[in-house]
Amino acid sequence: MRIFSGIQPTGQMHIGNYLGAVKQWTELQTRHDCFFTVVDLHALTIQQNPQEFGKTSMETVTELISVGVNPEQCVLFLQSHVKEHTELAWIFNTLTPVSELERMTQYKDKARKNKRNINAGLLTYPALMAADILLYQTQGVPVGKDQIQHLELARMIARKFNNLYGKTFVEPETLVSKEGAKVMSLQDPKKKMSKSDGTQSYISLFEEPASIRKKLTEATTDAGKEIVYNPAKKPGISNLLTIHALFAKIPLKDAEKHFKNKGYATLKSETAELLIDVLEPFRRKKKELFSREIYVKEILKAGARKARTVAEATMEDVRSKLGLVPSS
Ligand code: TRP
Repeated sequence: MRIFSGIQPTGQMHIGNYLGAVKQWTELQTRHDCFFTVVDLHALTIQQNPQEFGKTSMETVTELISVGVNPEQCVLFLQSHVKEHTELAWIFNTLTPVSELERMTQYKDKARKNKRNINAGLLTYPALMAADILLYQTQGVPVGKDQIQHLELARMIARKFNNLYGKTFVEPETLVSKEGAKVMSLQDPKKKMSKSDGTQSYISLFEEPASIRKKLTEATTDAGKEIVYNPAKKPGISNLLTIHALFAKIPLKDAEKHFKNKGYATLKSETAELLIDVLEPFRRKKKELFSREIYVKEILKAGARKARTVAEATMEDVRSKLGLVPSS
């Protein structure tokens, strides 16, 4: 199966990002034909500092490799290195009703949070995302729950193009990871874990042990003493149990049983030690790659080359279907 997915370059991926999507990438790459990209062009919908931006993009690539995305098993590249993405996005812009774009939850959210920079790119973001996916004749897209609506739109665009101009694109399936979206903020466990809620609310995949211990010790818990999984009544404890179960690779029920008759402090300290253990190789690998920028750049170069081969073929077909005059 052809798989495609993308991630924004934010730097310092956290455990929620990992469990939500990237962990699934590392599993899919062993069995499927995978294309993974760092979507730097999407990130421009929020104003970036040019001095930092390149570093952040490179850091995200480095982090992906550190947590197990293997450039020998997949095609790993930067979105801006393959120009066909923006070309196809433009064409999709002409097929997408503005009313559909205005309905998107992520757009409404971001527009509310960035009142001073509601740019056209923020609105047409899903058209670029559809281009990312459809360029590669993608069959499956692993994403977190928050991206389902964008995937539906991508399918709609594929269908519309195919109906108007003849079969050109595959309508991709959404592969939502069951566990991912459930990781909540350590400070406000009713909200999804997110970097925008302050450093105390999330744990980076490359966090130092002392800091992991501190954040878990200070994580919000609930009234009472009992350790039970009940997100409505005990959001804090349920979140810690979830994190524990996911990193221990055991069912929630088993985690619950393990902590029966133990105190909140034990849940926190055991979860901290578990995270420290599992994340240790990620941290080591990132440190190692940090001094090997040339190697990472070579990976990106090879990735873009492979991606371009597929993207160019799709675009040629698209241009000819649309009746654009060939340049030679
Ligand atoms: N919009 C996605 C996110 O914010 C990132 C993304 C861009 C993506 N293009 C993609 C995800 C294509 C999957 C496929 O998480």
